[in-house]
Amino acid sequence: MPNPATFPKDRLKEIMVDVLDRDGDAALQYGNTAGLNSLREELVGFLKRTEGIDCAPEDIIITSGSQQALYAIGKLLCNPGDGVITEDPTYVGAISAFNANAIRMHGVPPMDGQGVVVDVLEEKVRSLVSKGKAPPRFIYLIPNFQNPTGGRTLTEKRRQEVIRIASEYGIPVVEDNPYGELRYSGERVRSIRSLDGSVIYLGTFSKVMTPGLRLGYIVAPREVTEKVNLLKQALDLATNSFSQYVATEYIRRGGIIYEQIRFNVELYRKRRDAMVRALREEMGDMADFSVPDGGMFIWVTLNNSVDTSRMLIDAIKAGVTYVSGQAFAPNGGHEHSMRLNFTFPSEEKIYEGVRRLRSVILSRAQEAVS
Ligand SMILES: Cc1ncc(COP(=O)(O)O)c(C=O)c1O
Repeated sequence: MPNPATFPKDRLKEIMVDVLDRDGDAALQYGNTAGLNSLREELVGFLKRTEGIDCAPEDIIITSGSQQALYAIGKLLCNPGDGVITEDPTYVGAISAFNANAIRMHGVPPMDGQGVVVDVLEEKVRSLVSKGKAPPRFIYLIPNFQNPTGGRTLTEKRRQEVIRIASEYGIPVVEDNPYGELRYSGERVRSIRSLDGSVIYLGTFSKVMTPGLRLGYIVAPREVTEKVNLLKQALDLATNSFSQYVATEYIRRGGIIYEQIRFNVELYRKRRDAMVRALREEMGDMADFSVPDGGMFIWVTLNNSVDTSRMLIDAIKAGVTYVSGQAFAPNGGHEHSMRLNFTFPSEEKIYEGVRRLRSVILSRAQEAVS
């Protein structure tokens, strides 16, 4: 979860009152399915400035969070039983959206510190095609500060390679980028969509405003947005109008959104550093992890035989929790890994949590031996 200290309550209160006074009739009414025109116009500028993406308002469709976009894209691009390529491990919400559409996932392991290994990805695509099966319907990637691994960001060279593979085999790329603005160190890498206009790009306000207003968006070629539009008429008619009015002002008013991003980055960088220090001190002898340049997570892999999903109940009893690796496994595995979140707890709680986790792991490991 994002930290509630990053929710811009005062600014939102001001904006909400103004929206109700000025545009109340429209903001409380049904909206159009593709989304509020003024928000799509503001997003064009935001995406150009932050991600170098060139697009027109008509290329954008506003969704109820990017979670709805994942479901819609899965449903539209796949028939039940079709396959897609994902990173392995990958975002648990994507796994559930794809499962809900009976989509088979072909995970690409292993991921090194630079994101998905392109040769392995290409081999996977080639082997699926050569088996005479239908080629994968799309390649789903979280290129920045990947969820759940945190530490993995795809290099620009690999992004270019992914584009080459996608065009060679005629497979669309779905780029999911909820964490791109939350960079604490290192150099920004250009979005895949900025390198290739045929990429389907998913964005969200959840990490730069608040997840509670449930706003995400898809930037895609017209043939995709038109179909999403039809599907959305069945799903929810339109995304929350009031939220969209609020988000428009949030971008428009003297760049509140950019100030907020700077605030979030400063807060989260300290928490990341606290968790990295705590892990080095408390778990350096029992686990591997890499330092994320951004995002919200650290992926920890134990170097003993403890199963993190079985251990979870002990951890909860000890007052600490995590998401076990198996939740992120498109094809099984990751029993000895877990995803830790550093954005929600305070620095003190991060230290205490890691300390408690250490003792839970030690007692589990001892049980396994005896
Ligand atoms: C990779 C990824 N995609 C999509 C989402 C969904 O975000 P939203 O709140 O926009 O639905 C998340 C949320 O954590 C995420 O990590």
